[in-house]
Amino acid sequence: MPQDTTKKTQDPASLLDSAFRAAIAKALDEPGEHDPVIRAAQNPEFGDYQCNAAMAIAKKRGMKPRELAEAIIAEVELEGMVDPLEVAGPGFINIRLRAETLGEMLQSIAGEDLGIPAAGDGHSIAVDLCGVNVAKQMHVGHLRSTIIGDAIARLHERLGWKVHRENHLGDWGLPIAMTLSALRDAGTDLGTLELGDLNTAYRDAQLSGRSDRRGLEGALENGCGPHRVIELEEQNAGAEVNIANAKETLIKLQSGDPGLVEDWNAIIDCTMREVFDTLGLMNVRIGPEHNRGESFYKDILPEVVEAFIESGLGVEDNGAIVVRFEDRERPLLIRKSDGGFLYATTDLAAIRHRVQTLDSERLVYVVDARQRDHFRDVFDAAHLIGWDRTNNDVQSDLHHLPFGSVLGNDKKPLKTRSGENFTLRALLEEAIERGSSEVIERSKDEKSPTHGNSESELRLIGRAVGIAAVKYADLSSGVVKDYVFDLDRMIAFEGDTGPYIQYAHARICSILSRAAAGEIKFEDAPFLIETPEEKKLALALLKYRRTVLETADQLEPHRLCGYLHELANLYSAFYQACPVLKADAEAVRGSRLRLCDLARRTLASGLELLGIESPERM
Ligand code: ARG
Repeated sequence: MPQDTTKKTQDPASLLDSAFRAAIAKALDEPGEHDPVIRAAQNPEFGDYQCNAAMAIAKKRGMKPRELAEAIIAEVELEGMVDPLEVAGPGFINIRLRAETLGEMLQSIAGEDLGIPAAGDGHSIAVDLCGVNVAKQMHVGHLRSTIIGDAIARLHERLGWKVHRENHLGDWGLPIAMTLSALRDAGTDLGTLELGDLNTAYRDAQLSGRSDRRGLEGALENGCGPHRVIELEEQNAGAEVNIANAKETLIKLQSGDPGLVEDWNAIIDCTMREVFDTLGLMNVRIGPEHNRGESFYKDILPEVVEAFIESGLGVEDNGAIVVRFEDRERPLLIRKSDGGFLYATTDLAAIRHRVQTLDSERLVYVVDARQRDHFRDVFDAAHLIGWDRTNNDVQSDLHHLPFGSVLGNDKKPLKTRSGENFTLRALLEEAIERGSSEVIERSKDEKSPTHGNSESELRLIGRAVGIAAVKYADLSSGVVKDYVFDLDRMIAFEGDTGPYIQYAHARICSILSRAAAGEIKFEDAPFLIETPEEKKLALALLKYRRTVLETADQLEPHRLCGYLHELANLYSAFYQACPVLKADAEAVRGSRLRLCDLARRTLASGLELLGIESPERM
C-alpha cells in the first residue's frame, strides 16, 4: 500500500502506527520491526486508540509488559498531539488525541481531494469485467462482474492508477459459428435482428449440435425397438452434420471470408446494442472502447501454444497439448487433438497482452467463483512461462476475484416465475420502478424536500435509488458470498442499504442549503471538536483515506460499504446530539457546519467510488 510521507495528511491510525513502531524499535534497541497493534479503543473513557503490542513482545523476551509499555512511552514522539499517555491493565497504552490535533487533521483533509492525493506514479491495472457472450442475453452473473469490476476500477482510478477496463467478450469459437451457420441457413435478416431472437437461435443451434450417444446406446441395450433406434440414429447423424457445418463456417470466418465476417459483426453489434443499453441503466463506466474479446487474440493462439512447446512446458498427451503442474493431477489443456484452441489458450494470450503490452502490474479478474480452477491453472501456467513479468521485470499480481451467485428468496439461483433465468435488464427495470415509486410516495409529504418536484425529476431520483439498492447489496455482503436478491430489503431507507446512505447524504444537503439560504458563511471556521459525538464523527472522517487505500489494496468493496454505513450512522448520532444551525455560539455553528460539509463530501465521494449516485434531495 502506498504510504504517506507527510504527517499532515495522515490519518490518526497511520500516524500512531508509525510513531509507535519507531518507539518500540528504540525501546528494544534491536534490529527488526514490530507491529505496534494500534486499535480503536473499546471504551472511549480510556481514550481514542490503544497500542496493544507490549504484552506479546514482552512475553517472548521474558520482560515485564508494563515496564516495556513505560519504555515505549518514554520513546514515542508525538509532539503534543496526544494527552499524556497512560499504561493500563497488563500493559495496554491508552492514547487520547488532543482536540487541537483533531482540528488540524480535519483541516488537512478538508480540501478537494479529502486527503487522498492521486499518486499518479504510473501504476497500471487491468480489470477483467462484464465478459458478456455474443448472441446471449446478459444474466445476473454479468451484473456482479460489471458492478464489482467497475468499483475496483474506480477505486484504482481515484488513487491515480492507469486503469484498463477489459471486457473479455465471448465473441469467438464454435458455438458462435454454429449460431451463424444456423442463421444463414434460415436466411435470417441480420440487420433487423433483436437479441431475443439471437438468443433463441443460439440455443437452438446448441441443441441441434448435441448428439445423444448415451440415449442411442441405452435404446440398443434395452431393445427399445427399431423406431426409437432409427430416430436416435438420425438425430445423432444430424448433430454431426451440424457440427461439421459449424466447423467449416469457423474456418471460413477465420480465413476472413468477407460475407461471414460481415454477418459475424452484425451479431456482435446486435448483442452489444442491448448490452450497452442495459449498462446505461447502471451508471457504470464501460463502453465499446473497452471491448477486447476472445477474437482479439485468435491469431496469436498458435504462437501461444508454440511458446509452451518450445519451453518444454507444453507436452503432448494423446495428440493434444497440455501443461502439467507439480502439485495437482489436473493438467491444463491448451490445444485439442483436432488442433482447436480453448478458452484457456485465449486467457494465456490475454495475460501476456495485459502484463507485457499494457504493462499492468495488477490483473484482476472479476469472474464467477465457478471458474476458480480455470484461473488457478491459467495463472500458474503464465507464471511458469514468465508471462506474469512486466517489461520492467516487475512480477504482476494476478488475481481472480471470484463472486458468488445471486439467489432468489427460495435460496436457489434467481429465476423468473416461469422458471427462466432473469435477464439483467428485467431485474434493473424492476429495481428502478421500485425506487421511483418509493421516491414518488415520499414526495407526497408536504415536509419532504422533493414535495412539488415534477414527475420526471422524481423518476430520475428514483432511478438513482433503485440502482443504488442493487449495487450496494451486491458490493456490501462480501464479493465471494452468494446473496439473496430481496428488493424489499435492498431498497429500504433504513438499515444497511444504499438508499440509507444516499438519504443521509441528502439530509446533509438540505441542512447546508438552509445555511446557504441564511447566508451563513462557514468555509474558514476552525474545527472545534468538543462533544463525544463530534469526536466520533471526526475520527470516522479521518479514517476515509485509509479505508479507500485498504479497499483498493485488498480488493474488498464491502469495506468501503461498511465504512460509509458507519459514517452515516455516526453522522445521525452527531446530528441528534449537537444542534447545528441552532448552535449556541457562532464558532461552534461554523465548526459543525464544516463537519456536515465534510461528511457530505465524504459520503458522496465514497458512493461515487462504488458507482452510486448521490442525489441532493430524496
Ligand atoms: N465470457 C465468460 C463467461 O460468461 C466470462 C469471461 C471472463 N474473463 C476471462 N478473461 N475469462 O463465463
